[in-house]
Amino acid sequence: MEKKKIRNLIDIKDLSVKEIDELIKVANDIIDNKEKYSKLCDGKILATLFFEPSTRTRLSFESAMMRLGGKVLGFSESSSSSVSKGESVADTIAVVSGYSDIIAMRHPKEGAPLVATTKSKVPIINAGDGGHNHPTQTLTDLLTIKREKGKFDDLTIGLCGDLKFGRTVHSLITAISRYKNIKFILISPEELKLPEYVKEEILDKNNIEYIETKDIEEYIDKLDILYMTRVQKERFFNEADYIRLKDYYILNKEKLKNAKKDLCIMHPLPRVNEIHTDVDDDDRACYFKQAEYGVYIRMALILKLLEVK
Ligand code: CP
Repeated sequence: MEKKKIRNLIDIKDLSVKEIDELIKVANDIIDNKEKYSKLCDGKILATLFFEPSTRTRLSFESAMMRLGGKVLGFSESSSSSVSKGESVADTIAVVSGYSDIIAMRHPKEGAPLVATTKSKVPIINAGDGGHNHPTQTLTDLLTIKREKGKFDDLTIGLCGDLKFGRTVHSLITAISRYKNIKFILISPEELKLPEYVKEEILDKNNIEYIETKDIEEYIDKLDILYMTRVQKERFFNEADYIRLKDYYILNKEKLKNAKKDLCIMHPLPRVNEIHTDVDDDDRACYFKQAEYGVYIRMALILKLLEVK
């Protein structure tokens, strides 16, 4: 008998544009009809294996499975698993895939979730691997953009902060570059510029227009979306560099004075200092809504990967 092919989500490119549009449609339907979905995963178990800290991704995955009527198990730090005794990720996955129907895993090493797929009997979802990818954050970001702007085409998107280590930025650029007439304003200090491989493989290859600048206010009047990011302390080799760069950008009301009235300000969170709290009550601040949308898009993704109709 032919082995059933398991569907994983490791990179946002694992999903076609059509599939992303379908997930967003389902997530919007879940938002409007929560009860209709509340028992669809009865009897199913999600494992959340987090080898790195998380608030939103882990808890929104767990909330998503519980809101679908399923159950969850897992760990939130490697020190509370047998990895601390020297067990490999591969062995951990081989075992946990016998305890669960789907696994969401976060790991500091780039490529670890891809390795996990070779040992797993159930779908693997990359919940963030090092400075590489974070595809479910991208789905969350796309749902937010769709709900706030009503479209993915014809947008000028400012990405600000740590564009080097910010995995959410790499995944979002990859995903939204597939739509029409997207322009990027890449705002970062010299040391935290977008990696060359993202520019070459995504932006240049697809003839996407982009401008690089250090100044957050220079193009603020042109932006439809401003996506702020945290300087990723955990990826720095040198603490002095982190301290020098961590407060390079602090968005506040004053800096927004020339921004469009319908600008959508996003941030994958956690925020440290890069958005002043005086922006929180501005109608253009979307980052807490964005965090909530993460639950509904993850519900849609779980249903898709488990092939629940
Ligand atoms: N956005 C995000 O990945 O947040 P957490 O690190 O809290 O999961």
